[in-house]
Amino acid sequence: MDFDEIIERRGTHCSKWDMMEASYGVPSGTGLAMWVADMDFRAPDCVQRALERMLDHGIYGYFGDDGAYRAAIRWWMRTRHGWEVDEDAILSTNGLVNGAGLCVQTWSDPGEAVVLFTPVYHAFARVIRAAGREVRECPLAIRDGRYEMDFDAWDGLMQGNERIAILCSPHNPGGRVWTEAELRGVGAFCARHGLILVSDEVHHDLVMPGRRHVPAAVALPDHAERLVMMSATTKTFNIAGAHVGNVIIHDPALRRAFSRTATATGTSANAFGLHMATAAYSAEGAAWVDALMRYIDGNRRLFDAAMAAIPGIRSMPLEATYLAWVDFAGTGMAPMEFIDRVQTGARIAANHGATFGKGGESFLRFNLATPRARVAEAAERLQAAFSDLQ
Ligand SMILES: Cc1ncc(COP(=O)(O)O)c(C=O)c1O
Repeated sequence: MDFDEIIERRGTHCSKWDMMEASYGVPSGTGLAMWVADMDFRAPDCVQRALERMLDHGIYGYFGDDGAYRAAIRWWMRTRHGWEVDEDAILSTNGLVNGAGLCVQTWSDPGEAVVLFTPVYHAFARVIRAAGREVRECPLAIRDGRYEMDFDAWDGLMQGNERIAILCSPHNPGGRVWTEAELRGVGAFCARHGLILVSDEVHHDLVMPGRRHVPAAVALPDHAERLVMMSATTKTFNIAGAHVGNVIIHDPALRRAFSRTATATGTSANAFGLHMATAAYSAEGAAWVDALMRYIDGNRRLFDAAMAAIPGIRSMPLEATYLAWVDFAGTGMAPMEFIDRVQTGARIAANHGATFGKGGESFLRFNLATPRARVAEAAERLQAAFSDLQ
């Protein structure tokens, strides 16, 4: 576990580094890629060994008998998250954007609406709109510098055609670990408006030392008939290219409905993803994640301190994820100006806040899952790009 090792990713068909110039105009030779949410770290040895076993065997046929995969998920959820999962409740997909898309198809019709608590992970809105559904944006409130739920305001935004709410827990961007009380509030909100609650918990393992993620199913035992939980090994272990995710549904009627859509679309996870995920959910994987989060916490402290030293710029305090959510509102600059300073001046590719929906306009999202030397370099470049504010 040498998280300080700089591993060259350019020229490997890597979205974050090889698409940076086309997407942001940031030169691939000297730019820093801090956008796409994957990490610049090698996956843990237990995952590497699982792939090596496949390579040694050399036959890449269809996967069957996912008993070990389900048992690994059950073990992980119990030991890491205090959640008892019924193995029959686990369905696998080609990842969680796929999972979200299948949920939208299953529980809403074209013209109906899906609730998002914005700003939030941009692919949700993309999937919803591409399916001909409306996005009902419910903006999160900022109190004491962090996001909070705003149920009174949200009740007033409902128009009656909402069918589903997608919650991102922990929250991307913004890094909140929602409390049990907040999750109960979301459950009550969904019950008031007759919504299926899809809880995307892909960041569930990426919590800062001392924090604890509460699965929606643990906080909401009385809402099983409306609850769909999504999780994956892909963010945790940096294997997003394996495109594998879990949709966990304890309610039999909900599960049947989801399975029908999955069958109708021919959805099934790939063998590489299933082998890697099974190996990742292990004691060795757990030790790796613990070390990873201690390292990310160090990166976050370095980066946040550097941002706090620039007048008008501040990072939200991260309780989870490796994605720094940085507000430029205090600079008084229009988005075009601060984006230009970051991309052209600092040569950093970071996600534009507006793509995350209402409330994101004055922000940029910086990926800190990279060796510390790069975070330090990014911090220096940003300080130089905004040095006139000092
Ligand atoms: C909340 C959330 N859900 C889903 C995904 C992507 O999931 P997948 O790669 O399994 O489609 C991301 C990636 O950043 C995410 O942040």
